[in-house]
Amino acid sequence: MTALLSATNLQKTYRLGRVDVPVLRGVSLDVRAGEFIAIVGASGSGKSTLLHLLGGLDRPDRGTGGDVTFDGRSLGSLSAAGIDRYRSRSVGFVFQFYHLLPELTVLQNVAIAAMIRLGRVGYLRQRGVVTARAEELLGLVGLSHRLRHRPAELSGGERQRVAIARALMNDPPLLLADEPTGNLDRASGLGILEALVTQRGQTGRTIVLVTHDAEVAARADRTVRLVDGRLSGA
Ligand SMILES: Nc1ncnc2c1ncn2[C@@H]1O[C@H](COP(=O)(O)OP(=O)(O)OP(=O)(O)O)[C@@H](O)[C@H]1O
Ligand SMILES: [Mg+2]
Repeated sequence: MTALLSATNLQKTYRLGRVDVPVLRGVSLDVRAGEFIAIVGASGSGKSTLLHLLGGLDRPDRGTGGDVTFDGRSLGSLSAAGIDRYRSRSVGFVFQFYHLLPELTVLQNVAIAAMIRLGRVGYLRQRGVVTARAEELLGLVGLSHRLRHRPAELSGGERQRVAIARALMNDPPLLLADEPTGNLDRASGLGILEALVTQRGQTGRTIVLVTHDAEVAARADRTVRLVDGRLSGA
């Protein structure tokens, strides 16, 4: 099996004052291109931590903390600029707590992902295409009627759907989603998931998704569980 994304013996310890809090104690995972994997586990088991390491948003422990490779390249060997490129071109990330920019409208919050990837000049040149794509994605998540709202004027579930649209903006080969349907009612959550899975069929996108919901996990090709800082099949 050739893996698109691999985690090898990942270790992550947070330091709180003088106390070390080990969260990941040797996590290994191989994800094939096009695969849809669900990560489950108790609250506080380290699911978000793991997703952040996979997405290059944080680094494993120095020294023996293991490594993440994407498409054969080790993230540990990349420069800061290389990591930025990985994050903007290869990964779409749906944060557990959305991280939308409060001053921007819904449409701008989605389009900004393209602005970061294209740079200011590139963005200005392709503005029409970018806006059309952002509108299309916001339609996909059922928010066409909220384009000019700001995040504070949205419900939790609506914010979550903006975050999903933003993560898809650059058509990333890898989607990392942290509880993307956690704030949605059952029908909307499954609707969004269906849209992600259908899209994935068209584009071959690889999905790693954290969820507490057994029904959501059941749609994945494979489920893994984080227990005591390690992964097991679930
Ligand atoms: N920046 C940090 N500093 C110290 N400890 C942290 C930090 N971030 C997370 N932790 C601790 O690491 C553990 C794992 O956190 P993480 O957010 O990865 O869990 P999770 O599985 O995503 O939980 P949930 O299901 O509640 O979202 C928790 O015990 C948390 O308190
Ligand atoms: Mg979490």
